[in-house]
Amino acid sequence: MLQLVYLLRLALLLCVSFGFLLHPVVTSVMPLGSKLSVVDNNYWVSTNGDFAFGFFNVTDEPNQFSVGIRFNSKSIPYSQQTLVWVAGGHVKVSNMSYFQLTSQGELVLVDSLHGVTAWTSGTGNRSVVSVALHDDGNLVLVDAKQTIIWQSFDNPSDTLLPGQRLHVSKTLRASSKNLETSYYSLYLNASGRLQLRWESNIVYWTSESHSSTENLTATITSDGSLQLQDQHSRAIWSVFGEDHNDSANYRFLRLDFDGNLRLYSWMEDSQSWRSVWQAVENQCKVFATCGERGVCVFNASGSAECRCPFKTIETNKCLVSNKQDCGSLTEMKMYKNLYLYGIYPLDDLIVTSSLQQCVQLCQNDSECTVATFSNIGSPQCSIRKTKYITGYQVPSLTSISFVRSCSDPVGVNLSFTMSPPSEPSPHRLCVPCLVGAASGTFVIVGFVQLGIVFFICRRKNSTMRRVTLAFTFPNSKGLMVLSFAEIKSITGDLKNQVGPNMFKGVLPSNRVIVIKDLNASIEERKFRSAVLKLGNIHHKNLMKLEGYCCELNHRYLVYEYAKNGSLDKYLDDSTLCKKLTWRTRVEICSSVGKAICYLHSGCREFISHGNLKCENIMLDENSVAKVSDYGFTIVDGEATCCGFSAEKDVADFGKLVLTLLTGCRDHDHDHGQVYEWVYKEWLEGRVNNVVDKRIDDGANSEELERALRIAFWCIQTDEQKRPPMEEVVRVLDGTLNVDPPPPPFDLGFDPQENGSESEIESVV
Ligand SMILES: *[C@@H]1O[C@H](CO)[C@@H](O)[C@H](O)[C@H]1NC(C)=O
Ligand SMILES: *[C@@H]1O[C@H](CO)[C@@H](O)[C@H](O)[C@H]1NC(C)=O
Ligand SMILES: *[C@@H]1O[C@H](CO)[C@@H](O)[C@H](O)[C@H]1NC(C)=O
Ligand SMILES: *[C@@H]1O[C@H](CO)[C@@H](O)[C@H](O)[C@H]1NC(C)=O
Repeated sequence: MLQLVYLLRLALLLCVSFGFLLHPVVTSVMPLGSKLSVVDNNYWVSTNGDFAFGFFNVTDEPNQFSVGIRFNSKSIPYSQQTLVWVAGGHVKVSNMSYFQLTSQGELVLVDSLHGVTAWTSGTGNRSVVSVALHDDGNLVLVDAKQTIIWQSFDNPSDTLLPGQRLHVSKTLRASSKNLETSYYSLYLNASGRLQLRWESNIVYWTSESHSSTENLTATITSDGSLQLQDQHSRAIWSVFGEDHNDSANYRFLRLDFDGNLRLYSWMEDSQSWRSVWQAVENQCKVFATCGERGVCVFNASGSAECRCPFKTIETNKCLVSNKQDCGSLTEMKMYKNLYLYGIYPLDDLIVTSSLQQCVQLCQNDSECTVATFSNIGSPQCSIRKTKYITGYQVPSLTSISFVRSCSDPVGVNLSFTMSPPSEPSPHRLCVPCLVGAASGTFVIVGFVQLGIVFFICRRKNSTMRRVTLAFTFPNSKGLMVLSFAEIKSITGDLKNQVGPNMFKGVLPSNRVIVIKDLNASIEERKFRSAVLKLGNIHHKNLMKLEGYCCELNHRYLVYEYAKNGSLDKYLDDSTLCKKLTWRTRVEICSSVGKAICYLHSGCREFISHGNLKCENIMLDENSVAKVSDYGFTIVDGEATCCGFSAEKDVADFGKLVLTLLTGCRDHDHDHGQVYEWVYKEWLEGRVNNVVDKRIDDGANSEELERALRIAFWCIQTDEQKRPPMEEVVRVLDGTLNVDPPPPPFDLGFDPQENGSESEIESVV
């Protein structure tokens, strides 16, 4: 008993001395006159201890302070005690500053060094009697009747806490890394749409809510979703975090400095904040995310970063040179898969032209800085006349950009074409990494951001699957890891072959799976990282990767099993072929198109298929196509993952469509003769000749024409003319029209007039 009392005393003593060092005031209600200052290093703490209000150092600068609310819970380490509200948005004051509830009932932030009042709550003469920091993180001013006169929840900075509401016409504004105000804001417009904006005029994300209900508010729920609610707190629109329904002690929504809106949850296990949802899935698509720091690309590890391919004029900025008249020394440097746009001013000239004309237009205009040619619906040339240029590079993008400069007749030519993200460029970079550039208090932000990278392709439904196996267990990504002995046991010593290097197997749970022997060498580290990337992909038309084996030089992939086997079997067999009706074939084309489109641009990181052909299209029991064998490509016995060209996939897809329509498989030794024949028949108006005679119900002539045209566009020898998969899918679905294609290859005969001479024809 005595010992207990002694311990209690010791504990009290410790508390007191701790308190003395940090000066917290743990009482929720503070009277008029209450004061905090940088020098005293004191702060107010909510009754439950979860939040604290006081001064903090904002940047690395010794004399830059702000005052605001941060997480204070003991279960969150100091470095992770993220800020949730800052007085005056982003006002910075010196070390000679104080914060006070004046006798008139007004909150003021006074910088004595500069003799200025940096911020006030504007509540003087409104009978305020006290201020309190509530348990939910809300700083509240009340009058004698306890009526709320002012609250921080109504004046958000960049964060929304559970219970806090964003009202119509209110904004969250991102914090900024430098001392300027950020251009990014989240706005709830009068029609109840949440919008992410850059400055006030560019909207780069909008919530898909469709409701004419008045007076909506945006809020986050304690179970991890972002909702728009009507005045009865009924959800009109919701999005869910990956951990929706899981318990997390703390959550918040924040408009981050990179312009993306993210929902975060506190992960007790890893003692860190995890982003469980973000508005713009592809960070590079956030308007001006790289701003004056170059163009946005994904690096080898899948995180967005800003790179500077241009010559810079000012230090720390990535700008192009402008207004130069250098006559014959004008040089147009080409950058593939790159889209560039100007940010100040935004206006630019957009004209319909061919690639050649586009380059010429810019070259002959001394004010032109860059030109971007893209073929989205129609061939477009954008001419920009500003030195403030930014943009993004994605391998699936068909845009080509040209930067105008004067060549230096004596100097070393520093020009380079940006390499794809999988091979980091050895050249100079402006700002190496968007993620790592945070500093000071915002380092926290940086760490949280790093976490995002690991959720590249995850969707809210992709919760980890637990496969219970007698002798295997899933790794952290839900993939089974099998030993070679297990592979042999499951497949009965690799006896039941179902395709080239493919074996059927049965798991101890009686589930049937297919095992693919890569039969190629690939470094263990690379293999594992590729497999984890592919294991994150979920699409109904892609065979799900279930697991892998990586032991010594064995490299196996485990896929779900599709009952009806591969498409080549059907095309080669006259009985099975009857099952491939016209409708089924059209649907297979569309499904495969969507799957490839998803690989190219649905995931945050580009993934190529690399090996698209009939043998790799599986049909399930309902004859729904599932694409297998994506990701790994084997060349000369060496396997590589994911980074092949989008153009190759597009061409392979075109060939696949032609194969399905005609039923003629073009074998390697035929050198494309089938495709040449089909094109000739089409050109000369005999389309019905090419349709597979084994189709009982015949072809729908409109669908046939569309499919043939887009297939010929896909197989163009000139890669630049091939459309992106997004367009291909839209043409197949009939939501985008398509022009007659030029000859895909050198025909060896003179085609008719239609469209033979064009540089790039429009796919309208
Ligand atoms: C405040 O900052 C100034 C300039 O950085 C410094 O000289 C001064 O000692 C600081 N005062 C306190 C009380 O820390
Ligand atoms: C709100 O945003 C949506 C989508 O951007 C737009 O269609 C609508 O006109 C906007 N409403 C108002 C009142 O501005
Ligand atoms: C919306 O709010 C305004 C102002 O508070 C109020 O006048 C109006 O009646 C509200 N509308 C509805 C449908 O409740
Ligand atoms: C969360 O749980 C509720 C009730 O059990 C369920 O209806 C809802 O679908 C779940 N949400 C997610 C995203 O799993």
